Amino acid sequence: MIKKAILPVAGLGTRFLPASKSIPKEMVTVVDRPAIEYVVREAVAAGIEEIILVTHSSKASIENYFDRNFELETTLENKKKFDLLKEITEILPSHVKVISVRQPQPLGLGHAVLCAKAVVGTDDFAVLLPDVLVKDSDGENDLSLMIKRFEASQASQIMVEAVPNHLVDQYGIVDVAKSPAEGESIQMQGIVEKPAVDKAPSNLSVVGRYILPAKIMQLLEQTPKGAGNEIQLTDAIAMLQQTDVVEAYRMKGQTFDCGSKLGYLKAVLYYGVDHPKLGTEFKAMIKELAL
Ligand code: G1P
Repeated sequence: MIKKAILPVAGLGTRFLPASKSIPKEMVTVVDRPAIEYVVREAVAAGIEEIILVTHSSKASIENYFDRNFELETTLENKKKFDLLKEITEILPSHVKVISVRQPQPLGLGHAVLCAKAVVGTDDFAVLLPDVLVKDSDGENDLSLMIKRFEASQASQIMVEAVPNHLVDQYGIVDVAKSPAEGESIQMQGIVEKPAVDKAPSNLSVVGRYILPAKIMQLLEQTPKGAGNEIQLTDAIAMLQQTDVVEAYRMKGQTFDCGSKLGYLKAVLYYGVDHPKLGTEFKAMIKELAL
């Protein structure tokens, strides 16, 4: 059973400056809650019970957000603001734990995942990159479909989506015999980090959701620096795929890359119009602007 998820949050978010100068980019608000909360909720909805943050000294506010705040709770209780009290105490269900480990040096995504080795132990696990928000289509959680597929086949799962050719050099790209239908997985022949468009094996990009076996940690220990002079998770997956079946899972939902300013604005629009309390008025505002 996949119960543990690693969320690497140590990156300094230079693509999101100046907003990320003194608060973590993961804490920037999408509608009325920090971006990271959407990612944690996605993991919890897929059955994850242990969230492992791989973090940095400047990012304590992320851990604080998922912790209780006695002073605030007491104040809200005394003021009889029970709705707000409920809201801040129910960010996570009580069976979900948040654990953090540090990434002492910025050596790349592969290195960040390796920093969680001792916490993961012998368990297979999920990785969610919190820059990208994944919105369900028709209430079907893609991560949970990947977990089901992993549990049935024991094949690692890498979530992918098609991107336009001019964007392939910004992502991990998978090599597959044919593009799977949405919601389906297909065995991969290869995976390469940020290839030039003329060298790219396809236009199916790695979204930032992975279901991986515990043994990838040993491969990460042997992974040399790759693209961008960093230890890449993609390179360890390419090694894994030489001995084990690794599958590309084509997502059904929609992604929002909140690591980029336009992706972030798009997320605010989509999550805003869907918000149960604010959606209707927000939609009216968008119409007003469009005139
Ligand atoms: C990382 C991964 C890449 C993946 C991307 C998704 O890259 O290395 O394979 O496609 O996330 O957002 P980064 O965006 O950290 O450079």
